Amino acid sequence: MSASLQINIPPLRSLSLQRKLSHVSRRGTSVKCAAVASGKKKHNVTLLPGDGIGPEVISVAKNVLNLVASHEGIEFHFQEMPVGGSALDLTGVPLPEETLTAAKNSDAVLLGAIGGYKWDNNEKHLKPETGLLQLRAGLKVFANLRPASVLPQLVDASTLKKEVAEGVDLMVVRELTGGIYFGKPRGFGTNENGDEIGFNTEVYAAYEIDRIARIAFETARKRRGKLCSVDKANVLEASMLWRKRVIEISKEYPDVELSHMYVDNAAMQLVRYPKQFDTIVTNNIFGDILSDQASMITGSIGMLPSASLGGSGPGLFEPIHGSAPDIAGQDKANPLATVLSAAMLLKYGLGEVHAAEVIEAAVLDTLNRGFRTGDIFAPGNKLVGCKAMGEEVLKSIDTRAPSLV
Ligand SMILES: NC(=O)c1ccc[n+]([C@@H]2O[C@H](COP(=O)([O-])OP(=O)(O)OC[C@H]3O[C@@H](n4cnc5c(N)ncnc54)[C@H](O)[C@@H]3O)[C@@H](O)[C@H]2O)c1
Repeated sequence: MSASLQINIPPLRSLSLQRKLSHVSRRGTSVKCAAVASGKKKHNVTLLPGDGIGPEVISVAKNVLNLVASHEGIEFHFQEMPVGGSALDLTGVPLPEETLTAAKNSDAVLLGAIGGYKWDNNEKHLKPETGLLQLRAGLKVFANLRPASVLPQLVDASTLKKEVAEGVDLMVVRELTGGIYFGKPRGFGTNENGDEIGFNTEVYAAYEIDRIARIAFETARKRRGKLCSVDKANVLEASMLWRKRVIEISKEYPDVELSHMYVDNAAMQLVRYPKQFDTIVTNNIFGDILSDQASMITGSIGMLPSASLGGSGPGLFEPIHGSAPDIAGQDKANPLATVLSAAMLLKYGLGEVHAAEVIEAAVLDTLNRGFRTGDIFAPGNKLVGCKAMGEEVLKSIDTRAPSLV
């Protein structure tokens, strides 16, 4: 275990990152929009439907984006590319070069889901999941934003008591490309007693903490202005540096209230009193666990979107659920997680805040009108399939959004 640490340090691009995020609060401002003769803002979006229910939910989200675009004076140019199992079948690899190039050259990327039984026994480099990891690495997205909101209409879907779950509206900002999942040395070996060992390294450089902290402060600033940094600074050196750097970066954001919490306490507080949280920032492994835990407070995997952002270049937006092979092709999937991911794409990827809000409002309106897919159905609601749910969201957009064009 004497191998030295090897860390690749890409250049810090916090300025472009700050610029990108600061645009989010300005209505109708786009990071990469180009004013054209028609007066419409144009955005290139790469769609990656993927496998299983991916194509079904992406199709709904595309219709929603097109309709909201017509109301908001936006023009989308979509390019649909294969990824995951469908790319394996088509090209022999889970992330074809053409797909990555198209994604990199676009303003934002919307992914459905990848994976399925058919490819489960493939070698690691030929698994659909490998394509997703390659995509995240290729786009250099280091910040994963996962909101978990308990909608009043779905409060009974939570596994927590109603009084604990209702009103929860939090965002987990997880560091995505560093920490123990990537740190070296790692591997298997033998200890001094001859026992077999497995080992990994939790390591963070200051620049990695600084850039995720800035994303988190910017995110908190656009929410309720409260940021809780979760670490294990009472035990781990990497966490001690994490806390030191977060405190340092907090000086740039005097308007955001910063607190710190040890990860074991955070796990407990998330089920005891989750309403106390606004924005949480944490490292890769703690974020992996806490964001899944937070999502379960909402009780509905089919409702939860996510965004992965880098310092420059397009963000990657995707529902947190997988390809749901058990219901694929049956028109049973809940498309709302993908529709809400499209809203995050507009808000965090393109700076089209108002358009994002129109979509969010339409989703709430659709739920208020009683429409539910099977995963969130309760007696008294109207059971619909994936397509019909999409149609209802379109109706809500049309009836609620005043046309701006
Ligand atoms: N980001 C991704 O693309 C991603 C994430 C997780 C899993 N996966 C892959 O997906 C495949 C299936 O994995 P899994 O079963 O563990 O997770 P899953 O999220 O696909 O499904 C878990 C359960 O939730 C249901 N479900 C998921 N999304 C739903 C939706 N939108 N509407 C209604 N019900 C929904 C499914 O029917 C299933 O019962 C695997 O190949 C896995 O590797 C991909």
